[in-house]
Amino acid sequence: MTRPFNFSAGPATIPLAVLNKAGAEIADWRGTGMGVMEMSHRGASFGEILNTTLATVREVLAVPAEFEILFMQGGGLAQNAIVPMNLCGGAHPKVDVAVTGSWSQKSYAEAKRYADVQMAFDGKPHQFHTVAPVADWQLRADATYVHLCSNETIHGVEFQSLPDLKALGIDAPLVIDCSSHIASRAVEWDKVGVAFAGAQKNLGPAGVTMVFVRSELLNQAMAICPSAFNYQLVSNNTSMYNTPPTYSIYMIGLVFEWLQSQGGIAGIEAQNIAKSTRLYDAIDRSSLYRNEVDPAFRSRMNVPFLLADEALNERFLAEAKAANLLSLKGHKSVGGMRASIYNAMPLSGVEALVDFMQDFERRQ
Ligand SMILES: Cc1ncc(COP(=O)(O)O)c(C=O)c1O
Repeated sequence: MTRPFNFSAGPATIPLAVLNKAGAEIADWRGTGMGVMEMSHRGASFGEILNTTLATVREVLAVPAEFEILFMQGGGLAQNAIVPMNLCGGAHPKVDVAVTGSWSQKSYAEAKRYADVQMAFDGKPHQFHTVAPVADWQLRADATYVHLCSNETIHGVEFQSLPDLKALGIDAPLVIDCSSHIASRAVEWDKVGVAFAGAQKNLGPAGVTMVFVRSELLNQAMAICPSAFNYQLVSNNTSMYNTPPTYSIYMIGLVFEWLQSQGGIAGIEAQNIAKSTRLYDAIDRSSLYRNEVDPAFRSRMNVPFLLADEALNERFLAEAKAANLLSLKGHKSVGGMRASIYNAMPLSGVEALVDFMQDFERRQ
């Protein structure tokens, strides 16, 4: 059977080479007689897996030495609470959140449990199709931190560059939820205080969350912060304060080795530009399909598109499935379609989708 192309927004397609390697090692990792799932996290073999994974991630993502790299649990949504609990230990914490789509909307609501929260930008009146220039955001000079979602998975809105808070006279760390575009492009680490990402889009299986945190931010937790979610404790214990999601971490290691084989971040970013350009060009040239996001903020990872006649949606999806193109249904809050074209989606998958879309349009 030909493997279909899976456009799911997450959990999402994983490179076949990675799945095959994991499959070959599933019952016996390098002659140990144990699969990775069966090993003690305190043993030498898992220690090697963890250390190699950390080193590979640091190298591929060019993570500067002043950042700690943590593997945590709870996903992106848990970080919406874990971040304020770790950064808001001082008196009268203030958090400014740019709401550019559903995920930052959730971050905004959750942070309110811990801090005085202000909406720095509200994308809702713009149907989350664009983002105002950062100079026009409502930002407080004494904010504890500023939060944004650097790629909105549902609305398909991506920051092509991050705001430079220092240049705006704001001395607060920038927190980014980069769950759905981590490792798809270079990270502007100099502008970031904390970055977090659930793994299930670009990094591997669900169940592990990567957190990159500047060391200087490790000691600002609120007293109520649970120990297992305290960045300082997790960091002091090399992500093994509690039992980490060992298999997911191993898979991340394999995915980053695969990224090296793709030419690292520069190589994968070039592929992502080529894939997303191909799809947006096809949408823009068509009279059946449209994407409503401001071109300056169009996501390279998540491409939502609507059909001019919504009555065709069900047929589009059924025929796409029959053509081996899976999981194209858009999120219910925006409707239409969404093609998630993460790192592991090959250009041939995007070409197959474009060919199908053009053929479907011709037949209407
Ligand atoms: C940008 C973003 N943030 C957060 C989440 C929530 O992640 P989780 O379900 O792992 O908590 C998602 C999930 O799709 C997401 O796309």
